[in-house]
Amino acid sequence: MSKTMVALDFSTRKDVYEFLLKFKEPIYVKIGMELTYSFGFEIVREIKAMGHHIFLDLKLHDIPNTVKQAMKNLAKLDVDVVNLHAAGGSAMMKAAIEGLEEGAINGKRPLCIAVTQLTSTSQEAMNEDLGIPGSVQDCVIQYAKLAKESGLDGVVCSVHEAKAIHEVCGNAFLTVTPGIRLATDSKDDQKRVATPEYAYEQGCDYIVVGRSITKAADSVATYRFIETIMEGK
Ligand code: C5P
Repeated sequence: MSKTMVALDFSTRKDVYEFLLKFKEPIYVKIGMELTYSFGFEIVREIKAMGHHIFLDLKLHDIPNTVKQAMKNLAKLDVDVVNLHAAGGSAMMKAAIEGLEEGAINGKRPLCIAVTQLTSTSQEAMNEDLGIPGSVQDCVIQYAKLAKESGLDGVVCSVHEAKAIHEVCGNAFLTVTPGIRLATDSKDDQKRVATPEYAYEQGCDYIVVGRSITKAADSVATYRFIETIMEGK
């Protein structure tokens, strides 16, 4: 199974399919709010039918019962990974897993991972706007522990946090890390980026890569190159 999840951040269906048709093999893709809210779940079903693995990045956060029912419906899409905000708390995360189990196809539910603190949340914003004291790193670790205790399979985090999360939550607890750039790439709007080599060294289980692959002159070659790094070859 691929360790590189390609963020399909395109604004038209044509761009999505032109990109996917470059690949002969199934790849792992991340479908977020932009595609889902533009084209509905039909696009998720279509990409699944092409044989690709899907991380459906919709970041749920609501009362436990609502999240449970929503997750039950997401599980029926037969996607591979879904996510939610750990800030919704333990009851919400446990309810999410119950919903996924109820909606599971052939007894196999999607993996469920938690967003800890968004990387767009600064230290100051977390302390002052959100009223959460302490460091962002401590909050991320606390949320990761809570996610694990609530039965989740892992977290979305920065490459720089993956090692500490594995130390606290164990190596089987998945770390999925965006903010990846090849050494030769532009950072675009990302502030703190890391290379795939560094992500591999830090023990990240999956990396999320958007523009470094989608905007590359040869997307397939770049994807395969990054995959060899993540496979430790
Ligand atoms: O193009 P790029 O590689 O920067 O895309 C990264 C993807 O990961 C985007 O879909 C972005 O929304 C997502 N993401 C992120 N940082 C987070 C969470 C998600 O860049 N903390």
